Formats: sequence, C-alpha cells, structure tokens
Amino acid sequence: MKKWRNQMVRGRRVGRHGATPCTPQAIRRGYPREMSRSNARFSSDFYWGTATAAYQIEGGGTNTDWWRFEHREGSSAVEPSGDACDSWHRYEEDVELVRSLGLNAYRFSLEWARIEPRPGEIDRGAIEHYRGLIEACRARGIAPVVTLHHFTLPLWVADAGGFECPDIATWMGAYAATVGREFGSSIAMACTINEPNVVAAMGYLASFFPPGVSDWDRYVAVNENLRACHRAMRDALSDAPGDFPIGLTLSMAEYEPVEGAEAELATYLDEMEDRYLDATAEDDFLGVQCYTKHRFGPEGLIWGGDGELTAMGYPFWPQSVAYTLARAAARTPVPLVVTENGIGTDDDDQRIRYLDQALAHLDAARRDGIDVRGYFQWSLLDNFEWTLGYGPKFGLVSVDRTSFTRTPKPSAAWFARAVAARR
Ligand code: BGC
Repeated sequence: MKKWRNQMVRGRRVGRHGATPCTPQAIRRGYPREMSRSNARFSSDFYWGTATAAYQIEGGGTNTDWWRFEHREGSSAVEPSGDACDSWHRYEEDVELVRSLGLNAYRFSLEWARIEPRPGEIDRGAIEHYRGLIEACRARGIAPVVTLHHFTLPLWVADAGGFECPDIATWMGAYAATVGREFGSSIAMACTINEPNVVAAMGYLASFFPPGVSDWDRYVAVNENLRACHRAMRDALSDAPGDFPIGLTLSMAEYEPVEGAEAELATYLDEMEDRYLDATAEDDFLGVQCYTKHRFGPEGLIWGGDGELTAMGYPFWPQSVAYTLARAAARTPVPLVVTENGIGTDDDDQRIRYLDQALAHLDAARRDGIDVRGYFQWSLLDNFEWTLGYGPKFGLVSVDRTSFTRTPKPSAAWFARAVAARR
C-alpha cells in the first residue's frame, strides 16, 4: 500500500522500540518527566504543521448535524458557529499564513456534507473548491494533510441514524473512494476519522455533541461502527491513485486514577483508547492528539484540578505529549504523528510556555526512540470550539469576529522560530 508501510515493516523487524522505556510501568511512573532541552534531530521530511477543521473555520456549515444541534432548543452549544472564520472564502490567506510561519505541512478537513450534499450526489463545486485548497498548499511547498471526517455528518446521514445506521461504513467508504479518486495524487497524508473516540464519547455518553445521547451500550456499539467506518475508508483510499500514508487520529490524555478507581479507569481506557490503538495495526500511521491530563474517579472523569488550568478548564499539562506518544508506541507498531497539540487560552504567554514545553517533550520522545513523523499545532486560527463556541482560543492567529481580519499573535512568530531551530 502506501509510502510509510515499507519503512514501518522494516522498522518492526529490527525492533523499532529499541531502548524505549515504553512499558506500562514506565508510563505509570510518568515517563519521561525529566529531560534536557537539547533538540532531537529532525529529518527534512518531518512534518511541521498546524491544524484546522472545516466546520470550525469555514462558516455556513448548514447541511450538517452540528448546525442543527447548535440551533436546537436547549442545545448544550453556547452559541452557533455562523460564519466561523469565513475560511470558505479566505483559504488562500490561511495557507499563506502557514507559509509565512515556515511550516511544511497544513492539516485541514473536507466537509462531507458539502462534497455529497445528498446521497450519491457529488457537488463538483465543492470538489473544485477543495482542489483549490490543496493546490494552494502545493504551490507554496506545503504538504496537504487531509482529514475526511472531523466531527460533522451530512444531514441525510444523521437523519438515517448517523453512526448507528447499518449502512454508515458503506457510505463512508464510498465517500472516501470519491476523495481518493479526486485528490489521491495530490495529498500528502489522509486521516480517515478525527478522534472517533471523541465522536462516540461526546455524542453517545456525555451528550455534549450530536446526537446528544447518554447510553453506555449505544456508545460501545458506535465505537465498533466507527472502527468499521475507518476500515472501509482506509481500504477505499488504499485503492486510490497516489502514494500517501493513511491512518486515523485518536484523542489521548494522561489519566490519573483516584485511589480505588483503577478498575473503572481500565474499563474506560479500554473503550476510549486501547481498542482503537489495537485497530491501527494495519494502518500506515496513528495520529496522536493530546492536550492534558485528567483525574479519574469511580464516577468517571473529574474535570479540572488544583494546579494551573487552561481556558478549557482542564490542567495545563504539556507533558501529555511524551506520555501519550509513549503509551501509543507501547501498544501499536505503526509510526506516530502528533496531529494535534495546543492550548486554549487568552494569555499568549501561556501558549508560548505550553508549546515550548510540549516541543521539549516531543524532542525527548524522539530521542528515546519513538518513531514520530510530524507535529501539528492546534490551531492556526482562533475558531469555533464546538459546544464552547468562540470562548476558548487555540489560535496562533486571532480572527476578528466581524471583519474576519487575521492577526498573528506573538506565539505565531515564536512557533515559527521554534520549528526553524529544529528543521
Ligand atoms: C478536536 C478539535 C478541537 C480541539 C481542542 C480536538 O479534540 O479535534 O476539533 O478544537 O481538540 O479542544
């Protein structure tokens, strides 16, 4: 199949993990908290990028389940997404910002609801729009890293039962075949589904995302269906023209059980991470997405904490980069890419402090032999943070909510320098 497959198999044969202390014991001890600041070596094909998602920046995502969820009476979403960052019209400007930061990759997503607004009906205008975005990247020497599903479903899919519909894997496979046929020869990497574990947990357990359900059995069944969707999409993309690695991205975190909640945490982690990690063995890579750590009690996740918190209300914990990479590497043989990492904050100095430490943990993980092929900061722009609306600000670049003027923050220049020092 694709590009990284051969390297991966070679890596596995010679014992890719080498001296990496990737045992669960080492991870539980908090590996590797202590580290020097010297840089690990990064080859020129290491992807340094920033990430966005269609729904969070494009605006006008009216044909999706999220749009309906936001506008529903009593919705848990604090405000509607509206025009977001108007990136549907300003994508050239976004890609130019990525170039100005000296990055060699941009991760963005395609909106299925725009590409296939009704069953089987492909919108040529949407296809040409995304072709323009991909070409805007290529013209600037930026690798286009494309996510096919980032949290939103077309209304026709949601109305048929969404991830509980028996046809969902077939439909997502067909959508992936379209994407592969149209863009396979020009994309650099494909992420099938963004954080399927969050889609299931927030939509079917916490009821913060559509369809707003809270039911353990339905949650478990949806996780199974999401893995089937991933397989169908991966197979369809594998048959496409081009030579690009294919994988999914997973939301991972460091978890600390309160005394007596170890068994509950193991059950939770089994659904939330482990079954997905095991499902990646046939992929070309795994996207690790990490932000924080959580305490876990007998009743489940304990939000917040005593120390420094971010605007999301969870701990400031850049150590999660090294922790989650080690945990993933201990469980899956495939190369890893940090496809999202960043901080929601109004304080740009706090963002710089977070990213500085996060990159040091990335360096340490690589020095310890973990096969990491890229790092994508979340996010290029201050954007629509789902249920929390435009409150938490993850961007290197602020966006005026009326004029959509983009203004890089000091963290943007800082990130550009930190990346340049490592390239
Ligand atoms: C999601 C993004 C989100 C980010 C920050 C990730 O879970 O993929 O869409 O904005 O975290 O919360």
